[in-house]
Amino acid sequence: MRLVILDDYDKTSEWAAKYVRNRMLDFKPGPDKYFVLGLPTGGTPKGMYKKLVEFYKQGVLSFKYVKTFNMDEYVNIPRDHPESYHSFMWDNLFKHIDILPENVHILDGNATDLDKECREYEEKITAAGGIELFIGGIGPDGHIAFNEPGSSLVSRTRVKSLTKDTIIANARFFGGDESKVPTESLTVGVGTVMDAREVMIIVTGANKAFALYKAVEEGVNHMWTVSAFQQHRRAIIICDEDATLELRVKTVKYFKGLMPVHNKLAADDDLSEVQRQKKK
Ligand code: PGA
Repeated sequence: MRLVILDDYDKTSEWAAKYVRNRMLDFKPGPDKYFVLGLPTGGTPKGMYKKLVEFYKQGVLSFKYVKTFNMDEYVNIPRDHPESYHSFMWDNLFKHIDILPENVHILDGNATDLDKECREYEEKITAAGGIELFIGGIGPDGHIAFNEPGSSLVSRTRVKSLTKDTIIANARFFGGDESKVPTESLTVGVGTVMDAREVMIIVTGANKAFALYKAVEEGVNHMWTVSAFQQHRRAIIICDEDATLELRVKTVKYFKGLMPVHNKLAADDDLSEVQRQKKK
């Protein structure tokens, strides 16, 4: 597992966006080769999405041959509700880029048969060739997507009840009123994310520090579902200084010592090459 430590939220967002940009450019998506992205919602990825939109507007990045699968969606919230994850994704990313609506996949929390919706979602991911890069955030309780503490680490897409902690954390999006937060969600499983060829987790803020410590320094444990990625062949966690507060100084120094190596992954180097190719 790689751990990349940046100064603050903005630097973390920028690094994450550059990393995604470089992965997409290296992949060279085309009509016969779609880049399949798994995507999160929440406050954490907003800065990264803003930067990806900038890359699109600068002509550096195109999403024409990109397919996306979102991690989760609330159950029983109208699709056009401002806090639905559909609204979030269109407002923060999709409406600003050249992705084709048919290539966007978000679970339908209003489907009449929710189990069928979940099963079909897994089938769609498989049909798309699997996910190349699954991006996630985590909750203060270490959840990945809505895989709350105690979720099976081999779980697949399914209906999940939200824990009290998550309802409290998400009340900020519903005028601070916990009673307005949906109590159920559809979510990809830990196993679904584990199947991605690469997993990238963004962790910012002191309120995630304990979860990051559990993810990095403690063992794999279903009570901290993000810890499962210790067993992923290609996992990268991108965090800010505040999120490292519970890590050992030794751990932080070790990973900071690797920054010159990690920074190459988010370098701007090959951009001139991209611009050159675009002009050809
Ligand atoms: P946040 O949510 O990015 O808004 O902190 C992350 C999560 O709960 O998974």
